[in-house]
Amino acid sequence: MTRDMTEETLFSIRMRASSFGRHISGAERIARFDAIEAVLLEMLSRIHGRKSAPDSIVFSIDRIDVNEIVFLKALDMRVVNAPDLKSCRHIAKTALLSLGVSQTAVSHAFELLTNGAAASGGNMRGAVIMDAESGERLEPDKDRGVRATRFDWSVEGRRKADELLRRAGLTHFRTAEALALATKVAHAPDITAELCWSDEPDYTAGYVASLKTGYIRLPFMKEAGSLNGGRVFFVKGGPLDIEKLIRYLERTPALITDAGSFRYESYGDVSTAP
Ligand code: COA
Ligand code: AMP
Repeated sequence: MTRDMTEETLFSIRMRASSFGRHISGAERIARFDAIEAVLLEMLSRIHGRKSAPDSIVFSIDRIDVNEIVFLKALDMRVVNAPDLKSCRHIAKTALLSLGVSQTAVSHAFELLTNGAAASGGNMRGAVIMDAESGERLEPDKDRGVRATRFDWSVEGRRKADELLRRAGLTHFRTAEALALATKVAHAPDITAELCWSDEPDYTAGYVASLKTGYIRLPFMKEAGSLNGGRVFFVKGGPLDIEKLIRYLERTPALITDAGSFRYESYGDVSTAP
């Protein structure tokens, strides 16, 4: 591969905005050089929609080694219309147990995301990595956590995912982003499952995701108004090459080139078997 501007030259484009030292908005894409300008404008428009201007906006643009890209098909998506927090958490718990996450680990994960997982209080800047058997936390920095980055839909993958999500009425940009992130994470070495709910106070949806169950979207994983949220990446018990795992999550570029399937499940009919 030459290092000139061929059509195949791709860049990781990341944006983060902060206000009073607090992260308020982020976005990331993988795009060709000639698309960078449009991507930057689209990212800026996300900030324009906010009530007040941030103090700082940082863009990072890094060339990607195309030989390192992993090409993935998105996880199948299941949307469960469970009516409230109790039923959503019950489904999440049952799904995690069915994937071999222990009762201890499930309880620890719920407690962390409900109360704020950062060692110094509040939300982390990334995810907890948790031993699925013991419930022990394995991430090196318990305030920062580990961030999955350098992932995006390919042009064709995005077209298919947008179409699928539009038909399902899930047009919020977060849903497509979260599905892409969960797809990259589920394919990580040694990952058993992911649990997530947002820290945005008015966004109560969350999910459990894994290669076996697909992405199970649950509408009420926290109380409306709660500022707490986060992600837990469960890893299988036993010897773990954590540096390899973190390198994959943070550095390996992943392009999602195809959408998975989609189905609604009503509470009561939901199958949590993998
Ligand atoms: N939350 C809080 N702080 C964040 C942050 C986040 N999500 N992302 C970046 N920061 C802050 C941190 O202080 C970070 O320092 P740290 O590494 O010590 O934590 C600092 O900015 C520098 O981050 P940087 O290394 O430039 O970020 P990155 O290359 O890891 O990129 C983003 C991260 C911004 C792309 C990512 O956080 C993001 O927002 N992604 C898009 C949306 C997304 O994927 N959301 C989840 C699915 S819905
Ligand atoms: P969000 O889905 O953006 O509301 O983020 C919810 C929580 O997930 C945050 O509070 C972080 O703890 C964590 N998080 C956000 N972005 C990432 C990421 N890229 N990788 C891992 N964890 C993340």
